[in-house]
Amino acid sequence: MTSLIINGERVAAEPGETLLQAAERGGFALQCDCGKTQCESTRVTVVSGTIDSNGTRLKSTVLACKAKVAGDAEIRLPASSELQSLKGHVSALRRVSDDLFELRLSFTKPTSWRPGQYYHVEFRGLERVNLFASFALDAGTEFNTLIFLIERANTPDLFEMLEKKGDVKGRVGITGPYGSSFLGHDDERLIMVAGPDNLAPIWAMALSSVMGQPRREKVLLLDQSLKQGQFQQVFTWLNRRGVSPVFADLQGAQAADKLQALLPDLTEFDMAYVAGSHSFIAGVEDVFVDAQATYGRILNFQPWDEVAMQTGKAATLEPAD
Ligand code: FES
Repeated sequence: MTSLIINGERVAAEPGETLLQAAERGGFALQCDCGKTQCESTRVTVVSGTIDSNGTRLKSTVLACKAKVAGDAEIRLPASSELQSLKGHVSALRRVSDDLFELRLSFTKPTSWRPGQYYHVEFRGLERVNLFASFALDAGTEFNTLIFLIERANTPDLFEMLEKKGDVKGRVGITGPYGSSFLGHDDERLIMVAGPDNLAPIWAMALSSVMGQPRREKVLLLDQSLKQGQFQQVFTWLNRRGVSPVFADLQGAQAADKLQALLPDLTEFDMAYVAGSHSFIAGVEDVFVDAQATYGRILNFQPWDEVAMQTGKAATLEPAD
């Protein structure tokens, strides 16, 4: 038996068991979604001691669902929002462009999420999708309402259904929020990077930081594919508040070099979040890991990704027709 201190409380732990098993036995709830190192829901901070990270270490954090107890240690769990399963309905659907819908789901109970977290969303007759909660393009939000930006390339089946029906009245089930994203300390520069079709979580993060951390230094780097008229409202809103998005080609073999050139002074005192597909994140993350910056992945994975992961084809996978 070794001793594991979790959020200041001592929990008995067996060497070799996962931090998650020890935490659950100690009465701590951690939301796990994927069980495959994809969803980042169980990322915890190692404060001190010895942990077998099992390949999941990013700076001082590990994934509790994979990392193992290896000796006495202290860990800290993120402040978590409670997992909710709710039934709601579509309260508004706005077609922004040929490739983008703004979808509002309303519930009878309030929902609570952090920027970068996602929900399982189930429409009748459609496979479950993972959708990142976000804000409307005009920065609006409503009580008891979740707003999702539905991009054609990201969730093609859902997009097609919304496009066909135009007006969806049916009930919708959601479970979440999953994922571990938080804005952290005001004194660290906040670097937000979005890959193709992944503006929603970064928009949620940028808006939250602009509103809640006005003095914090912010850097917003967007893949050039996001420079689209349909997002102009977002860019204008940010520009007016002193955050100017920088667009660059962040895909392909040179992605890390390009990112490095845009962030020449990156240090361990920076905090970076990258939202995108497996391949996008893999292409840029070394820049943050090498600089020892605090770093978080906001991985956009859909149910079809799980199949891809098992067959090792995630990097080249295209959404199913
Ligand atoms: S449950 Fe561990 S990363 Fe998803």
